[in-house]
Amino acid sequence: MFVWGDGFEIGLAEVDAQHRRLVGILNRLARCHAGHVAEEDLRRTFDELADYTAYHFATEEALMAKAEVAQDHAAAHVRAHRDFVEKLLAARKEAGRAPRELTGRTLTLLTKWLIVHILGMDRRMGEEVRKAQEMASLPVTVAPPPSSERTIEVLLDAIDGLYRQLGKNSDELLESNRKLQQEVAECSAIRVRPRLFAGSGGR
Ligand SMILES: [Fe+2]
Repeated sequence: MFVWGDGFEIGLAEVDAQHRRLVGILNRLARCHAGHVAEEDLRRTFDELADYTAYHFATEEALMAKAEVAQDHAAAHVRAHRDFVEKLLAARKEAGRAPRELTGRTLTLLTKWLIVHILGMDRRMGEEVRKAQEMASLPVTVAPPPSSERTIEVLLDAIDGLYRQLGKNSDELLESNRKLQQEVAECSAIRVRPRLFAGSGGR
């Protein structure tokens, strides 16, 4: 379970709300991965992810164009979006095959995207867009840009949360494994008993 914290906010309300939605989709995918992966659920989640991606990237790219952010940044940002879309489309094509492997790979893609892209490119975009908005309509209260220490703190919190969840999932897996082994042993004992009985009666 990926936990959203205000450290992930980039200071643009519309974009932050969309990023939160992505966290919701990621967590739904994580539930699919942990339980039985129903093909229909998986397709629906991928469809939502595709809709979200088209809408969200268009929002960010329009904001960058309006704020006239540095060209090198805008170009690299758009390239990163295209690269993500390509990876997502490739994954979506495989939705009917090897669902567990697909959910695992997509979870890695989304988690990496949330941490690396949001704390990197999106944060820089937020700073540039807010600066442009400030120039256009002074006076305005602009949130101070987050320090690199804060970025590292947020990153460590996110990783810590993921590891804690992973530990919890492992404990649950061990417990269900133990129960399963117990059930198998009980079933075997029930099957063996009549055979022993039949054997002794025949002598
Ligand atoms: Fe972005």
